[in-house]
Formats: sequence, structure tokens, C-alpha cells
Amino acid sequence: MSEPIHSPVPTTRTLADEHERLARVVSEIISTYAQTLDAARVCSTATPQELEALFDEPLPQTGASAEEIFAKFERDLLPHAMNIPSPRYFGLFNPTPLPVAVWADALAAAINQNGAAWRNSPSASVIEARVLRWLCELIGYDAESFGTLTSGGSEANLIGLKCARDRVVADARDRGLRAAGARGQLIVYASEQCHYSFVKSVDILGIGRENLRKIDTDERFHVRTDKLREAIERDIAEGHTPVCIAGAAGATSTGVVDPLEELAGIAREFRLWFHVDAAYGGGLAFSEKYRARLKGIERADSVTIDPHKWMFVPFMCGALLVRAGGRVLRDAFDITPEYLSEERGGADVEYDFFRYGQLGTRRAMALKVWAALKSLGVRGYGEVVERQIELVEHLAARFDELEDFSRAGEVETALCCVRFLPKSAREKTLAEQDDLQRALQQRVERSGEAWLATTVLHGRRALRINVNSFLTERRHIDNLVELLRREGAELTRGE
Ligand SMILES: Cc1ncc(COP(=O)(O)O)c(C=O)c1O
Repeated sequence: MSEPIHSPVPTTRTLADEHERLARVVSEIISTYAQTLDAARVCSTATPQELEALFDEPLPQTGASAEEIFAKFERDLLPHAMNIPSPRYFGLFNPTPLPVAVWADALAAAINQNGAAWRNSPSASVIEARVLRWLCELIGYDAESFGTLTSGGSEANLIGLKCARDRVVADARDRGLRAAGARGQLIVYASEQCHYSFVKSVDILGIGRENLRKIDTDERFHVRTDKLREAIERDIAEGHTPVCIAGAAGATSTGVVDPLEELAGIAREFRLWFHVDAAYGGGLAFSEKYRARLKGIERADSVTIDPHKWMFVPFMCGALLVRAGGRVLRDAFDITPEYLSEERGGADVEYDFFRYGQLGTRRAMALKVWAALKSLGVRGYGEVVERQIELVEHLAARFDELEDFSRAGEVETALCCVRFLPKSAREKTLAEQDDLQRALQQRVERSGEAWLATTVLHGRRALRINVNSFLTERRHIDNLVELLRREGAELTRGE
């Protein structure tokens, strides 16, 4: 233990030295982590109680040195971190972050711009606008479009639905839903595969969870447009007010893309807001080969796309784009508090991002997206996206060769779902088959050799495998197949 430091706050004289010293310490930790990542266990087996014991310390009364703090990080935190950046992490839409974006984010922290008001983040806010322009262009929006960066896809979906609600019930923002006199219930339509943030969003917006119509999907898990149309017609006949259709481009469980063109047509026919949740699948737009899978996205009124998913930017960063431009967001959220008045004649309010969404103080999230886009370019991203989809197609082909595995859904992004169903399991009940998927996932997790999730598709549990690391190679995929076969055989040994 070093001597306690009672006043460790740097002065203007020592700030630069301190940064230089700590940069060395931290970059050493990060590069060692990167070097050992491929060989390291993907996840720890520690229980919450064991971890609590590691960090069970009283509120510090005196200061410790930064070296000591980072040593504790290396000793006790890092070994029990989930190795999301691992090439053998096949879990949720969580990427290996690009080094350029990690360090851009460190710069953002160092200069601590507050991207709420332009005056507190002049250059970074202009960069945010630039990044939003690029994202709009990427999905095929024209120059009128605009948007805002968000904490993630959940917030972006909420903002998209807020714009939808306000368009249909013009006074809801100021007078509340009841006084604004909406006809019947407000209804939002999405696939039964939609992300849970839609459920939360309709609650927050006063629409109510029961008024999110979850529309059936077909055997490939795309939303059924015949069922959608029926639901809208039924709601209108019953005196309700349809608000919005939300399509998925890269659904959370399956990665598939809803028929966006058709959804756009139905939205236009019934004069509904059309939102596309491309939080993950928006990455297809980088690929010349796969871009057409998003056809129709450019007709959406709003689009969610998350740089912290298929753009390999460290958390947190999502985006909500609006085809008709920033005015729509300003109408939904703008406010002018006394201390953030339009003092400079209002010329800069265009870059006051607190006017475009719910957040006040905001990190300069744009810097890491800007650095990542400049570093890879559309082509660089396109290559990674294509490589990842090809890896998953290879994985799917491997499963198709194996009798004990049965695939569910399609490979339309870098995601594949599969069930472990050896002969002995086929006579079992569906509940037992579900348990088998869970048990296999648990065995894989305990092995530390890979991590994957399970999900439920049409009521039945399946393994869900996503390649979201640019480090993943074919050998990792082949090892995963062998791991699943080995653990599956152990699991059903003697049956
Ligand atoms: C399709 C989809 N939309 C939205 C979200 C929510 O994004 P976030 O977790 O960044 O809030 C997710 C998260 O996985 C998602 O898969």
C-alpha cells in the first residue's frame, strides 16, 4: 500500500504530466488485454456474491494513487469482465470496438464537451451534425433529413415513436393525450419480434403497452403484412387511432429484415408514420452486395441505427434519423430555458442538440463515430459486414450438414438461430427440448470457450449466434461448431 494521498487533484502545472503517466499505464493494460483476448476465457464463472466480496470496500475517506486504482482494475475487474471484444463472443449485438473509436472516445472524455448546447461543444456539435448527414446519406435519405445521436437504440426508438405520436395527436405534447382528444386508443404496430424498447416506449408516451399490436410473423420470422392490414382495419372499425408501423431491419432474435417496401406502402395507404428499427441491420447499408435487403428504408419517416452495434463503436451511441428533417424533432422536444437562450440570434440553435431529444448534458458521442467512419470508410465497413455474413452462412451450412442440429429462420444478417435436437430429444416434449437448448448454452458458457445467447422463436427456445466481432475468423466458427457438438454429446450421453 502506498501512502494515502489526501489531495490527489491535479493542478494546471501537473495535469499534463498526470495524463501522460496514466496514458502509459492504461494503454499498457489495454494492449495486454488485446494481446491475450483470443486465448482468454470469454466469461468468468464468478458469482455476484464473489464479485461483491472483491469490491466490498467502505466509502474511501482518503485518496489512493491512480496506479493503485488501475492495478485493482487489472487484478479484480478485468478477469471477471465479459470479453465482449473476443472473437469468440457470439452474443448480443455487442461489437468489438475499433481502436480508433475507443481512443476518440477517450479524447471526448478528456475535453468533456457538453453536446447539449452548441456554445458548450461548438466543434463537436458540428461534427455530430456531419455524422448525422453521413448516416442519413448512407440509408438513402435526401438533404432535408436530419437526426440526433442517442444513448442507444432504445432511446432512438422512443424518439421515433414520440414524433409519430405528435404527428397524429398534434396537441399531445402540450395538453396531454386526454385533453388533445385522440379518437379511441392510439395504436402502434410492430412485429411480434420487435425489440422490447417498443413496449417501454408506448408506456412512456402514454399510449399503453396493450396498444402495441404485436403482429404475427411468418415461418421465416418476417412480419405478416396480411395480418398487419387486418389489424389496422379492425382498429379503425373499432374507433381507434392507428399511429405508426414499426418495421425491423435486423430483428433482435433472428436478424431478419421485415418487408420494408411493403410496410412503407401500407403506412402510406393508411397515412401512418413509418419507423424502421435498423439499430443493428442498418449496417447492411455499407455493403453493395447486401444493401438491397434494406430496400424501402429510405421511405421511412424515421430510422433507428446504432453505431454501437454493427459499426463497432464503443458504447454508448445510437442514432435516430428523420426523413423530414430536424424541424420534426424540434417540434417534438424544443424548449428554451433562460440559461440556454438563443442569445446569439438563434443562428446556432440548429446545433443545440438538447432541442432534438430528451437528453440534457450529452457526451460528444459523435467523435468516435466520426473517427470510425473516417477510418474505415463505407468500403471498409462493407468488407467487414460481408465477411461476417459469409462467416455466418458458413456456420449455417455446417449446421445443415449435422443431423443433431436444426436451423430456425434465415441468415439475412450476421445472425443464425439453431436448435440442438439429436434423435433422443425429438421424442421429448417441447418444454424438455427448450430445456436442452438452455442447458447447452450453459455448458458453452461454463466452458469459457465461447458465448452465445438463447431466444424464443414462435414459442420455442433456440440458440442465437451472432458474429459481431471483426476479429472472428473461420477457425473460430469451426471451433464453435465442434464445441457445440462436444458439449451437446456430453449433455445427452447415455440417452
Ligand atoms: C433491433 C434492436 N432495436 C433496438 C435495440 C435497443 O438498443 P439499445 O440496447 O442500444 O438501447 C436493440 C438492442 O439489441 C435491438 O436489437
